[in-house]
Amino acid sequence: MSKIVSIHSYRGGTGKSNTTANVATTVARYGYRVGIVDTDIQSPGIHVLFGFGEDDIDRSLNDYLWGRRSIGEVAHDVTHILEGTGNSRSKLYLVPSSVKAGEIARVLREGYDVGLLNEGFQELVDVLKLDYLFIDTHPGLNEETLLSITISDILVLILRPDQQDYQGTAVTVDVARKLEVPKLLMVINKAPTVFDFGQLKQKVEEIYGAAVVGVLPHSDEMMVLASNGVFAVKFPHHPLTQVIEAIASQIMN
Ligand SMILES: Nc1ncnc2c1ncn2[C@@H]1O[C@H](COP(=O)(O)OP(=O)(O)OP(=O)(O)O)[C@@H](O)[C@H]1O
Ligand SMILES: [Mg+2]
Repeated sequence: MSKIVSIHSYRGGTGKSNTTANVATTVARYGYRVGIVDTDIQSPGIHVLFGFGEDDIDRSLNDYLWGRRSIGEVAHDVTHILEGTGNSRSKLYLVPSSVKAGEIARVLREGYDVGLLNEGFQELVDVLKLDYLFIDTHPGLNEETLLSITISDILVLILRPDQQDYQGTAVTVDVARKLEVPKLLMVINKAPTVFDFGQLKQKVEEIYGAAVVGVLPHSDEMMVLASNGVFAVKFPHHPLTQVIEAIASQIMN
């Protein structure tokens, strides 16, 4: 049975796109067929981690939403990113959002049919025979986010150990509970290495009453990589990669 996993955060820049790319890649390496959709139509970015430049995106989610192409046609096979570390069944696909200024402006101006987005997710799972579909989202609560939370089997909420993140995340957790998401998992990212991670995990679990499945350290190597690739592939033995593995296994079980 396929699973839809949304990665969300109330605030921007928490590490959604990097975490999505890393966890999705890790799951694919276990021999699963995995898709990623960039629903951050206003400020897309996850394609960069898969090596797409501005001019490389010839088919995007926008084309699907405007009825120009089917959702299957705008999915790009990015299995090569596993660098041969998966198995023969491993597959990784990305549906990027357009980075053309005119197309972003059009979405902001005209909006789009959120229902169509939902149909697109289901169709993508069917045509690509996906085991897991990951949805990288725009921060904050908006119509698309609510939709992706509603249809998710698993919602991964990311926060930094910062007071602004704590408050906003409480709002999102409330919404997720009202929408009855079957599985809510919390991830703390950019934790200063001087912190006691065990204590931090316990504190966040007490605040939200939800499981923290990973505390990712703030990492200079991640900053230096600067979205030029998928960290877990580039740094297989790094402590951060071990936490990614733990998050992936929570999603797979
Ligand atoms: N654990 C980490 N340590 C250091 N830097 C990190 C870490 N996680 C993410 N970053 C960096 O933080 C920045 C934002 O990451 P990313 O784009 O994944 O966040 P995002 O939540 O998707 O942002 P947005 O809300 O804009 O979509 C990037 O420069 C990324 O390299
Ligand atoms: Mg992002």
